Amino acid sequence: MLDVIECIKQRRSIRTFLPRPVSKETIEKVLDAAILAPSAGNWQSWRFYIVLNEALRQELAKAASDQEFIAEAPVVLVICAEPGRAEHTYGERARELYCLQDTAAAIENLMLAAHAYDLGTCWVGDFDEAVVMNLLKIDAQYRPIAVAPLGYPNENPNPRWRRPLREVIEYRE
Ligand SMILES: Cc1cc2nc3c(=O)[nH]c(=O)nc-3n(C[C@H](O)[C@H](O)[C@H](O)COP(=O)(O)O)c2cc1C
Repeated sequence: MLDVIECIKQRRSIRTFLPRPVSKETIEKVLDAAILAPSAGNWQSWRFYIVLNEALRQELAKAASDQEFIAEAPVVLVICAEPGRAEHTYGERARELYCLQDTAAAIENLMLAAHAYDLGTCWVGDFDEAVVMNLLKIDAQYRPIAVAPLGYPNENPNPRWRRPLREVIEYRE
């Protein structure tokens, strides 16, 4: 198994997939890693939809500004936040912030785990929330945060440029 730093360094957004299927066991190993993410008050304000149906995958790609590579993957995950889940404990901050942070942390975990299991993913944020909710009959208590195709990669992209560390950090000593 990859060292976590190596895994972080090697992960890339993958936008071309092999037709090879991904077993439910492997999908669930990836999601088992997702649900180990930290969350506010451990309320775990997330939910995962696993789309295998090809027609639905095509519709999801359409709902995501026709990003066709999404449907090429044998699995498409739709990762949702549950804004009301921790509201009784933390109020508006839970609705507007914590549920998104919880879910984003879970998404990053699942992307890293996917890479560790030789799978590829891409975080897709450009999609029509209402259309996705309607397609998957997602209950109104959830909000789709990301669409993530999941499959065996058919490309090995170079690392994308990052802003240098010096540009994004400030010490207070
Ligand atoms: C919030 C968010 C939204 C994104 N939306 C899209 C998207 O709609 N389509 C896409 O192809 N990539 C999308 N990406 C992936 C980024 O383009 C990618 O992470 C970035 O270019 C860095 O490349 P890397 O992931 O290979 O390091 C998104 C990433 C994030 C975090």
